[in-house]
Amino acid sequence: MRSFEVFINEYFQNFYSSSIKDAAYYSLMAGGKRFRPQLLFAVLDGFNLPRENGFHSALAIEMIHTYSLIHDDLPCMDNDDYRRGKPSCHKAYGENTAVLAGDALLTESFKVICADPHLTSKQKIAIVAKMSQYAGINGMIYGQYLDLKYENDQTADVVVLQDIDYYKTACLFILALEMGMVIAHDEANREFYRSFGAKLGSLFQIQDDLFDIIKSSEETGKPQGSDLKNNKLTALSFYDRDTIDRLLKKTIAEIVELLNSQKFDTSFLLKIVEKIKDR
Ligand code: IPE
Ligand code: IPE
Ligand code: MG
Ligand code: MG
Ligand code: MG
Repeated sequence: MRSFEVFINEYFQNFYSSSIKDAAYYSLMAGGKRFRPQLLFAVLDGFNLPRENGFHSALAIEMIHTYSLIHDDLPCMDNDDYRRGKPSCHKAYGENTAVLAGDALLTESFKVICADPHLTSKQKIAIVAKMSQYAGINGMIYGQYLDLKYENDQTADVVVLQDIDYYKTACLFILALEMGMVIAHDEANREFYRSFGAKLGSLFQIQDDLFDIIKSSEETGKPQGSDLKNNKLTALSFYDRDTIDRLLKKTIAEIVELLNSQKFDTSFLLKIVEKIKDR
């Protein structure tokens, strides 16, 4: 991933000096796990394509993801002071700068795609449309809406939780995979990318809900017990520890089966699944 990190640094040279740029850079480089870029690169690896062909798309998705986290931590949302082991963006730079840094990352992410020399115009339009779809009002934003709406409501049906997990988390996983799909011209397997991303996103969010309780702030880089503090509807609202463990195992088994049933090389995707499984 080192050269991807170099690429991000170089791309940031395009921006005027400002506290907004500093805040956006601070959050983007604060030590995120880069799972969404890793998924995209794993698709390209499977087709023997150079990872460089995915650098712009990987940066775009990491910008959208980072913006979503900056806004997610704001006092009007989850009100969390730590992120990626550091003061969250609004704690380090102030609320108004954090809001604008998030806005800037989202807006600039589209330009990153338009500036990609590896893509045809058709591919750029396809990727930009997917970014709007999966990050927008019918995508990640819808998930954040549901997440906030069901705060303090522990009586909701489990289907609501599945929707929260799908929209707020899985949608960006699917986006990363479908960006890889467009770059690799593999649209024929679109259903696979969707159902793989949905299952992996669900797995990831159930783990995240669990880690909120069982892992320390040092381990997660986030405040422990944030979901409890906000009375969020999470996996722990419905399941005890044993049931969560069983659910995670079952989901991993389904994901592995799905990967193994494909005709193309999914071994690189499997490696990411194993990383997520063992995190
Ligand atoms: C955090 O995502 C938000 C969720 C969807 C749970 P990550 O756990 O991937 O966060 P970073 O990028 O590593 O900080
Ligand atoms: C955030 O979910 C998902 C998005 C930002 C889209 P969470 O609120 O559970 O994420 P963390 O736990 O703060 O990372
Ligand atoms: Mg949240
Ligand atoms: Mg949060
Ligand atoms: Mg969480």
